[in-house]
Amino acid sequence: MVQLFSLIAAIAASVLPNTVAAVGLDEAALAKGLLYFGSATDNPELTDVPYLTQLSNIADFGQITPGNSQKWDTTEPTQGTFSFTKGDVIADLADANGQYLRCHTLLWHQQLPSWLTSGTWTNATLIAVLQNHITNVVTHYKGSCIHWDVVNEALNEDGTYRTNIFYETIGESYIPIAFAAAAAADPDVKLYYNDYNLEYGGNKAAGARAIVQLVMNAGIQIDGVGFQGHFEAGTVPGKSSLVSVLQSFTALGVEVAYTEVDVRIQLPTSATTLAQQSTDFQNLVQSCVETIGCVGFTIWDWTDKYSWVPSVFSGYGAALPWDENFVKKPAYDGLLKGMGVTSTTTATTSTSATTTSTTTTSTATAAHWSQCSGNGWTGSTVCASPWSCTYQNDWYSQCL
Ligand code: G3I
Repeated sequence: MVQLFSLIAAIAASVLPNTVAAVGLDEAALAKGLLYFGSATDNPELTDVPYLTQLSNIADFGQITPGNSQKWDTTEPTQGTFSFTKGDVIADLADANGQYLRCHTLLWHQQLPSWLTSGTWTNATLIAVLQNHITNVVTHYKGSCIHWDVVNEALNEDGTYRTNIFYETIGESYIPIAFAAAAAADPDVKLYYNDYNLEYGGNKAAGARAIVQLVMNAGIQIDGVGFQGHFEAGTVPGKSSLVSVLQSFTALGVEVAYTEVDVRIQLPTSATTLAQQSTDFQNLVQSCVETIGCVGFTIWDWTDKYSWVPSVFSGYGAALPWDENFVKKPAYDGLLKGMGVTSTTTATTSTSATTTSTTTTSTATAAHWSQCSGNGWTGSTVCASPWSCTYQNDWYSQCL
């Protein structure tokens, strides 16, 4: 009898249509009302075809961010001479894939050209240089970017201003001046202040809120604050603390986003540390989902193969949801779980990493026309194929 049931089950499995929806990270993010789930990338990696294929997988990534190619040393290597070749490659890729582009970054103390760092500047000449840089770069990418990180990492850990060439020469007003120049060049793009370790609250987060108020009080546009989210596994604050910090910014009238997330692990990894990393990613993305005004979540590249972490944190790595061979780690499921998808993931990859196939199965799907999200909604957030969870208002999204 048992054999008969097994036979019937096997026949049924082979003839019944597959009703289980495949859900990617961006699909899950959209279903929860975020604008995107995204990844950073960099030009040298784009020659790696399997890498490029997954970066272009819009089920997982609805947004990409150039990790280096829009920074000052690349875009204005010689004073007054602009180069957009590298940045354009990534902007064009996002455009071709139908992905948003987060633009990064206009003013930062790192990756500045030597003509700038070794020059002799007065208040007036450096303001003119800064305005000229921002005007040219933002104008070039006008209409392409969903966000610009206008000012990056202007704060010390205690919330005081970081000493950099701009602060030393111009004072804190370099910040509103930068936002004003960006707003003048593209009034439609959202303008962000972006920094790390804001997630812990405390003095640095207070400093960032003061920057938001400084710009607002000057009557200048600032739309968002980027939480970079660079962590070591096990050090990520709990979900409700994360939500509280995010809300302390949205209460000021700006949106927020996680912009550069990775969760590094001391090598070699173990099942325990990979599980911790998964929980950390889950809490991070869930805190965004639970914060009205948190618009998106970006990982700082998607595979350990191209992470910046090992080159800077000796003995650490494995910081991203896919390993060096493009196999999904538990962190991938943690992210899905944080976006309401209870899933089982199987991943297979050839040893040469030339093929990667994944299947994510949701345990619950909502039918066509059903509710799938909204404040207080506890039912299924994943629509049966081919329907998508479509935002109607904060209280109601529907499978359409
Ligand atoms: O372009 C040169 C290349 O010509 C040279 O052969 C090579 C030799 O090392 O270096 C290349 O430059 C590297 C550059 O990335 C481009 O690949 C730099 O050495 C390297 O330091 C630089 O690292 C970048 C880092 O910012 C700079 O601090 C990382 O890729 C980039 O991911 C990282 O991103 C930052 C965010 O912008 C801001 N928040 C922190 C985040 C991580 O540091």
